[in-house]
Amino acid sequence: MKKKYIIGNWKSNKDLEETKYWFDTLKTRSLQNNIINWDNIEVVVCPPIIFLPLVKKLRDDCDLPLKIGAQNISPFKNGPYTGEVSDSMIAEFASYVIIGHSERRTNFSEDDSMLSEKVKRANEVKLNSIYCIQDENTFIPEDVEIVAYEPVWAIGTGKTDTPDNADRVAQAVKKRWGGKSLIYGGSVDPDNIKSFIQTNNIDGVLPGGSSLDPNKFWEMIVNAAKI
Ligand code: PGA
Repeated sequence: MKKKYIIGNWKSNKDLEETKYWFDTLKTRSLQNNIINWDNIEVVVCPPIIFLPLVKKLRDDCDLPLKIGAQNISPFKNGPYTGEVSDSMIAEFASYVIIGHSERRTNFSEDDSMLSEKVKRANEVKLNSIYCIQDENTFIPEDVEIVAYEPVWAIGTGKTDTPDNADRVAQAVKKRWGGKSLIYGGSVDPDNIKSFIQTNNIDGVLPGGSSLDPNKFWEMIVNAAKI
């Protein structure tokens, strides 16, 4: 069976203490319930880039099979690009990277050509790219590992796409793109996670708001691992 992805996107949230609390709580919950079948799931946490080293240490200390992702990557290699964090820097701490989130397209004017460069940088250092698309016609660069379908109106609103429509989009995108995994994002929570990952074509989820609460994140892991 193909593993289901649960990829938590913290966006620009949390401080040091909250980050430590998140891992402590997840560890406590896992000790109370250690019957999770981790073979069914691939769980990734994407903190703000400045917390990547801390999150790697906390992940190693808590001994849970979590993977780490960045939320962004520079389109350039190392060099005179003030403020940017390059591919090789991210690859020291993470194995995934989110590219093309609608919040970056809207607030930072990231376009298809810049996003294609970011995918190239990720591939050069073997980071798995999680490429966000807003609808079934959004351009997808070559060699993307995972595509995340996230309708803008469903992000942070508490309104989700229907599992049937998300599944239809997933099928259409996979046909066009011929790619590997397609996940759904937009107001995913512990109550609705199953309805998305039980569909034929959706291979996981990308929760934002509900990934911030370690108890909710743990419940999503439990519910997804049961499928
Ligand atoms: P949300 O965010 O779960 O808070 O809707 C999802 C995302 O933007 O990736």
